[in-house]
Amino acid sequence: MTSNQPDQVRESVSRAYAEAVSKGSSCCGGQASCGTPSTERAESLGYTPAELAAVPTEATGTTFGCGNPTALTEIAPGDVVLDLGSGAGLDLILAAQRVGASGRVIGVDMTDEMIERARKNVAAAGLTNVEIRKGIIENLPVETGSVDWIISNCVLNLSPEKPRVFAEIARVLKPGGRMLVSDIVASGMPEWARQSISLYVSCVAGAIPEDDYVGGLRAAGLAEVEVRDRLVYDAETILGFASDAGDELMAMLEKLGLPPTRETALGLARQLEGKIASVRVFGRKPLAS
Ligand SMILES: C[S@@+](CC[C@H](N)C(=O)[O-])C[C@H]1O[C@@H](n2cnc3c(N)ncnc32)[C@H](O)[C@@H]1O
Repeated sequence: MTSNQPDQVRESVSRAYAEAVSKGSSCCGGQASCGTPSTERAESLGYTPAELAAVPTEATGTTFGCGNPTALTEIAPGDVVLDLGSGAGLDLILAAQRVGASGRVIGVDMTDEMIERARKNVAAAGLTNVEIRKGIIENLPVETGSVDWIISNCVLNLSPEKPRVFAEIARVLKPGGRMLVSDIVASGMPEWARQSISLYVSCVAGAIPEDDYVGGLRAAGLAEVEVRDRLVYDAETILGFASDAGDELMAMLEKLGLPPTRETALGLARQLEGKIASVRVFGRKPLAS
């Protein structure tokens, strides 16, 4: 990243996702998967056909995640669920169906266009137990100790201030409350990749090593922190993340003194093979902390 000012980073990320939801032009997870029909893309991320059948197609068609954070949770009727970076709302809808009329789901996102789309998708699903708040995940507009479950799908990697996010997770969970987030982790990434804004908004360049993720959550006070699933990406998938950046990717290759072709890009992606993974991370706030 050329800019390391947190507000500027958030602004670039927000602009990219405003464009993504308006034009369907780029997303976390790459063009290869975004370009396929929506249900297929959602299924490739781990949503089951039964889950998707109960959701309006507008919502399944605007997934920008890298997993299914509601799968394998024990979200129960009556729970309060918070989705960090709720995007266009697919996970809000799935969580709202699980908590039922006696429960509540809160989404927090910083991008107006995403919030607007999520509100439409939630309304189309006929749900009245979902509230979407505008805000940043580094300073959640959520009461301390008020949430049973935190979910999130491919968002924490985008934060330029991850320790603040980990601390906010620990603050807003009820004692005994749990988190299960899908996200990208990465280690040993070369400097050219770390510096790419395209790879940052595509959920790659901002990703931190798995050990730092787990360690950051523990340092914030969470217990039982563990990675529950891991999918390590190959070079083609990594290229998919970046290829939506199109011109910027080619400009980056030229800047590195390399021919701006897909072959060269694939060669660079091979340097990242095995270093980037999609994970599902669990944690619990201790009863007494
Ligand atoms: C990759 S998309 C994921 C959206 C959604 N979770 C999904 O699975 O489709 C990232 C979302 O997080 C939001 N976001 C990124 N960084 C954020 C931050 N620091 N605070 C609040 N929202 C953020 C973006 O506006 C965008 O809607």
